[in-house]
Amino acid sequence: MVKKAIIPAAGLGTRVLPASKAVPKEMLPIVDKPAIQYIVEEAVQAGITDILIITNRGKGVIEDHFDHSFELEHLLEQRGGRDDVVRELKSVAKMANIYFIRQKEAKGLGHAVLCAKSFVKDEPFAVLYGDDVILNDEKPVIGQVIDAFEKHGKCAVGIKEVTCEQIVKYSSMKIEGIEDNVYKIDDMIEKPSLDKIFSMYSILGRCVLTPDIFDILDAIPNGAGGELQLTDAMAVLARSKGMVGVDFDGVRYDMGNKFGILKANIEVGLKHPEVKDELREFIKKIAFEI
Ligand code: UTP
Repeated sequence: MVKKAIIPAAGLGTRVLPASKAVPKEMLPIVDKPAIQYIVEEAVQAGITDILIITNRGKGVIEDHFDHSFELEHLLEQRGGRDDVVRELKSVAKMANIYFIRQKEAKGLGHAVLCAKSFVKDEPFAVLYGDDVILNDEKPVIGQVIDAFEKHGKCAVGIKEVTCEQIVKYSSMKIEGIEDNVYKIDDMIEKPSLDKIFSMYSILGRCVLTPDIFDILDAIPNGAGGELQLTDAMAVLARSKGMVGVDFDGVRYDMGNKFGILKANIEVGLKHPEVKDELREFIKKIAFEI
């Protein structure tokens, strides 16, 4: 059983500046909830009970979001008539055991994961990238990856076919089909040039790993962009023990990207009971005009 998860949320978010100057990109809203709340909800739905969020200086607002807001709750209760909001505010603070640690320098995703070594101890754990919101109303995507990890007894990642433009910014997997949407992964490469790609499948934001990844992260040199890359460590694991990739069922929004933020707000807004009708009419109107 996978009970622990890490959410790395200490990146600089340079692609969404100036929005991310004072507000962490993980706290940018999708309609009425910050991105990172969707990610915590996904983990909780998959049976995760303990979550470590990796933050850095200036991201204390993430801690506040998952804490009680006694003053606000008390005030709304006194005024009355907002029971549903108060209930939701209280439930955010009680979703799971949420812990925080600071990555003191943004030295890469691999370095962020390494900060979780003492939290993880000797258990398998999930990693959910803090700016990748992936929605599936029926089966949380990290649950799909956990199922593959448990069934095949190998570290597992969520993968999707991406475009040429994306693959050079993400990673490329060397894969072979095992069943329907599950693949064996023998090797992978981070941010490959187009002549070095194995396939058009990239890891998108979800992994289930075992603690041996920490020894590998300790041993490998910095990779692309001079950062300690989690993909480089997983490549060592894939070549030695093999890994599995799940072509997951879910809709992904890259909240580290301006267009991703817009898409998320429009699509989630079109399903949100409070705003969906107004938004649909608004989109029809402007679509007619442009
Ligand atoms: P990204 O590469 O998208 O994050 O990392 P970034 O560095 O913020 O992106 P830019 O500046 O816009 O290019 C994916 C996830 O890993 C976290 C990020 O917060 C994001 O959720 N991360 C990245 C860390 O926690 N620490 C790091 O040093 C780098």
